[in-house]
Amino acid sequence: MKKNNFVDIDVIAFSDLKDNECREFSYGEGDWPLRGFVTHYRQDIFAYQNRCPHAGHQLNWQPSDFLTPEKNNIVCSSHGAIFDILTGECIAGPCFGDKLKKLRCFLSNQRVIVRIPLQHL
Ligand code: FES
Repeated sequence: MKKNNFVDIDVIAFSDLKDNECREFSYGEGDWPLRGFVTHYRQDIFAYQNRCPHAGHQLNWQPSDFLTPEKNNIVCSSHGAIFDILTGECIAGPCFGDKLKKLRCFLSNQRVIVRIPLQHL
């Protein structure tokens, strides 16, 4: 649904996003849609663009699989960079100190919504 200068993407019902789970989404056509994911962590939700700052790869190899085995950080499957879930900052790996691009997300009618500024599309 387009509104003004942003697009709201309805990703998932909040009740379907269990604690420590993620759900990926994409928006747009062609070979290079905007790809992102949301995660439910410590009773909050976070959304990031699915693009590693190291080499620009998607973070995940398996669908909606973005977290470390301990479920306390985000991991890039390509070369193992580890990112803080709360901030998106790389805390270990080849892009140490860089950040994932954080996206605005919120709940509306118990749905997880990600708001993308049109200039990012
Ligand atoms: S592309 Fe993510 S660590 Fe290299």
